[in-house]
Amino acid sequence: MTIKTLILAAGKGTRMRSSLPKVLHKIGSISLLEHVYKLSEQLDSKEINIVYGHGGEALIKALPGLAANWILQEKQLGTGHAVLQAESYINDDDAVLILYGDVPLLSRSSVDKLLFLLNDSPLSLLTVTLDNPSGYGRIVRSKEGKVTRIVEEKDANGEEKLIDEVNTGIMAVNGGALKGWLAQLGNNNAQNEYYLTDVIELAVKDGVEIQTCQAKNEDEVLGVNNRAQLAHLERVFQKNEADKLMEKGVSFRDPMRFDIRGELLEVGQDVELDVNVIIEGQCSIGDRVKIGANCIIRNAKIDDDVVILPNSLIEEATVGKRSSVGPYARLRPGTELLEDVKVGNFVETKKTKVGNGSKISHLSYIGDCEIGSLVNIGAGTITCNYDGVNKFKTIIEDGVFIGSDTQLVAPVTVAKNTTVGAGSTITKNTTAESLALSRSKQVTIASWKRPVKK
Ligand code: UD1
Ligand code: CA
Repeated sequence: MTIKTLILAAGKGTRMRSSLPKVLHKIGSISLLEHVYKLSEQLDSKEINIVYGHGGEALIKALPGLAANWILQEKQLGTGHAVLQAESYINDDDAVLILYGDVPLLSRSSVDKLLFLLNDSPLSLLTVTLDNPSGYGRIVRSKEGKVTRIVEEKDANGEEKLIDEVNTGIMAVNGGALKGWLAQLGNNNAQNEYYLTDVIELAVKDGVEIQTCQAKNEDEVLGVNNRAQLAHLERVFQKNEADKLMEKGVSFRDPMRFDIRGELLEVGQDVELDVNVIIEGQCSIGDRVKIGANCIIRNAKIDDDVVILPNSLIEEATVGKRSSVGPYARLRPGTELLEDVKVGNFVETKKTKVGNGSKISHLSYIGDCEIGSLVNIGAGTITCNYDGVNKFKTIIEDGVFIGSDTQLVAPVTVAKNTTVGAGSTITKNTTAESLALSRSKQVTIASWKRPVKK
């Protein structure tokens, strides 16, 4: 038996008021459709089919990573018509799982339940009970509680509208049976559409006892039709992610003010995240790491016992054990801090390796640089690494002390244990264990008078 997932994604999404096809709008770092695809991908012996229409080829091009069979539905004549487009790909003994490209947070457990129920019946249905069921298809049951049909809101009478158990649209159906019922669908209803939901009544006519299971909660079956729903599901998604991290030993000052747009490949215990931390791309965070408010960590590796102070941006960088970064630090791509390093406020680094125990505490730009261990870089130090065309390297060896407001004009090497006097412009390699100084002599003009206002 193969599980054929059928992801319906042909609708236009008019209410998004967007030039982007609805299913390409994102939650976290990936599109709505990719969320559904990722869930499908987890299933054993599956084949993933996506029914598309609006967005056309551009949709396929936008998602080159999806190993799916794309099936065009030229005109959107209803959910039943959408499924019919996939008919030739469905075998009689397949389990067809019908999903929706705009319902991104469906849980694996609900899918597993539906597929399990397929052992007892050729059709299983995911339903949910809502305080406000308006807009949804209602699940009509007999006195004995057996499902007899689904009636769409627009076709429902007053009594049917009172039913609060609704159709999520998500179902699992035996392939052969589904094809038989699809062939009988008509469009004689309020919307003149071919309703997939009419399959239920046809199945009951064939003597099938429909199996149902209830969704865990409303949010897992919620579809996105407008930007408010998109924003709502973004928060739901983020809360779920924060919950998973809390189970692993991460503390949040406020889990509702945390965003992950990517993956935490590894996360340690006793990690503390203050508000408005954003994790992007692929990151890993070690044990006992503390990240202050308003920090963005993007494709970075943060080792054990690191402290990141507020308002820092760390991108494509590694931060070694016990190091301290920020506040207001910017580590740009190619920054590699070894252990016990300190990078302080208003410091920008790029393609720079900093050795054990070295410090760049204030107001510096350090780029294309290799810094040894136990180096102290004074406030306002700048590596002049760029002549407008080429980039050059600065090498600062172990034990160097660089006085404040120094310019290091690359390519240049500051040799081991050099002391550079404050305010120097270093253009030549220094000699180890020496003082290097380039500073104009101070003069005293005793006769000078301050100007005074007339
Ligand atoms: C559908 C169900 C309704 C259920 C609700 C849950 C039917 C007839 N009704 O109603 O019982 O309560 O979903 O949200 O199935 N689509 C296509 N091609 C089409 C039509 C739709 O791909 O021709 C896709 C849309 O992109 C969308 C999904 O199917 O993702 C649902 O379509 P929509 O028209 O929104 O159905 P509803 O009226 O909401
Ligand atoms: Ca809908």
